[in-house]
Amino acid sequence: MQNLASLHTLLLHELHDLYDAEYQIADVLPKMRDAAHAEDLKKAFDDHLNQTEEQTRRLEEAFAALGEPPMREHCPGISGILQEGKEMMEEQDATPDAFDTALIASARRVEHYEMAGYSSAWRLAQTLQYHQVADLLNETRKEENITDKKLAKLATKTAHLAKGDIASRVSS
Ligand SMILES: [Fe+2]
Ligand SMILES: [Fe+2]
Repeated sequence: MQNLASLHTLLLHELHDLYDAEYQIADVLPKMRDAAHAEDLKKAFDDHLNQTEEQTRRLEEAFAALGEPPMREHCPGISGILQEGKEMMEEQDATPDAFDTALIASARRVEHYEMAGYSSAWRLAQTLQYHQVADLLNETRKEENITDKKLAKLATKTAHLAKGDIASRVSS
């Protein structure tokens, strides 16, 4: 492996890693959608799946711009984050609000991994003056940020609903 032989090969390595990560994420999102209780959370996972497919396509465009075939290099980082999420989804005796909140926490870990990966790759492409590649990566980087913020809002909403539920149980 010559990932660190130059900034160019390092960028390729980052892209291979992200390409694999997007595929792994696309595999798990339908399971998260099915497991979620709240309708707006299900919809958020559906939207994220569509977005993930578009981001995968964008990476393919970046590979093409570099004259390289799109290749996946196993990304153990995202595997571990997704594995944690899968284990959580198998928990017994979860209340719907605790379950959805944990699901969002897990999805946000995914987003933060992607944000770090795309941000680093974007800066690297800028340094190398690969402008087209940098623009593609920046577009995805911004989307990942927006998704993370949407998930954070959903978590707040779930927490508020749960609080209302607890309050009504206490007063009844
Ligand atoms: Fe993504
Ligand atoms: Fe994402």
